[in-house]
Amino acid sequence: MAIRLPEYGQIAYDRVADAYDDLWSRHVVGPNARLTRGLALRHGERVADLACGTGLYTLEMARLVTPGEVVGVDYSEGMLATARERAEQEGLSLSLVHARAEEFIAKAPARSLDAVSLRFALAYLDWRDVLPRIGRTLRPGGRAGVLTSLTSSIPQLAELYRRFRKSPEPAWKLFQHTHRSLGETWRLYRKLRESYGEPRFITVPDDVAQVAARLGQGGLATRETWTETIRLWFDSGDEVVAWMVDSGYVTHDSLEHVEPVTMRFLKRLFAEGMESFRQPRGIPLDLVVGGVIAGRD
Ligand SMILES: C[S@@+](CC[C@H](N)C(=O)[O-])C[C@H]1O[C@@H](n2cnc3c(N)ncnc32)[C@H](O)[C@@H]1O
Repeated sequence: MAIRLPEYGQIAYDRVADAYDDLWSRHVVGPNARLTRGLALRHGERVADLACGTGLYTLEMARLVTPGEVVGVDYSEGMLATARERAEQEGLSLSLVHARAEEFIAKAPARSLDAVSLRFALAYLDWRDVLPRIGRTLRPGGRAGVLTSLTSSIPQLAELYRRFRKSPEPAWKLFQHTHRSLGETWRLYRKLRESYGEPRFITVPDDVAQVAARLGQGGLATRETWTETIRLWFDSGDEVVAWMVDSGYVTHDSLEHVEPVTMRFLKRLFAEGMESFRQPRGIPLDLVVGGVIAGRD
């Protein structure tokens, strides 16, 4: 189940691996704990954690099923290396598989797993296709748990998209930033607007009902759903943008072909825009997270 050519997202997560837990995982301890509780894992069970990342929550599940097995699947070698190291340090056994989650789930034998967990990876795979396939892999009584950002997550970012779309300001700033001719700037600006003018390139679900419905297509009945908002605070717009990039939050294949000079421009533009949300405590960012637990009878 080897990975073919490295993809943009894979390379991006290789880079993110070292800082990931500090920048992301610690903010989502609550929803992860709730998902793990909802999975009601038992000793001796076999679990797959799709897109397991650095393995923080994979290992929590490994503790609960020991002497069972947790298989962590991820396409980033960097993230898997961190998971491997963490498992060794904690003296816990994890089976780690370098593969695309889609391929792993498509090839897993029917009824071979007691639980499947998929946390914060729906932006990177075709979830409308993958979620219905999970049911087939579960034994009777098996459970699936999905945790995801929703499209309403970070409304501050969506608000900036809307604002920039209506205003001539970004085109003018791009002209000043790139020192290119007016014609070339306009072409670049139009290309950027086509790709990022609406946050439609973000493909996460709108709500937990969409996740539950897709799991349902695979024969799984919804047991629990919830949505929660987690507010993060930053000291500056620059910090917000650095966090969005370094935590992996804005990882997306479409960014692969953005030239460095344009990327610097986008970072500047959004960092300045974020300042407009400043409150006495700093700049807020609201993560909107949805969780779903479903099961096979
Ligand atoms: C935001 S992180 C989530 C990691 C972990 N599940 C967590 O919640 O801490 C996304 C992870 O998905 C992995 N990933 C993205 N697309 C994938 C795919 N198609 N197959 C396997 N792993 C994937 C990335 O390498 C990264 O480790």
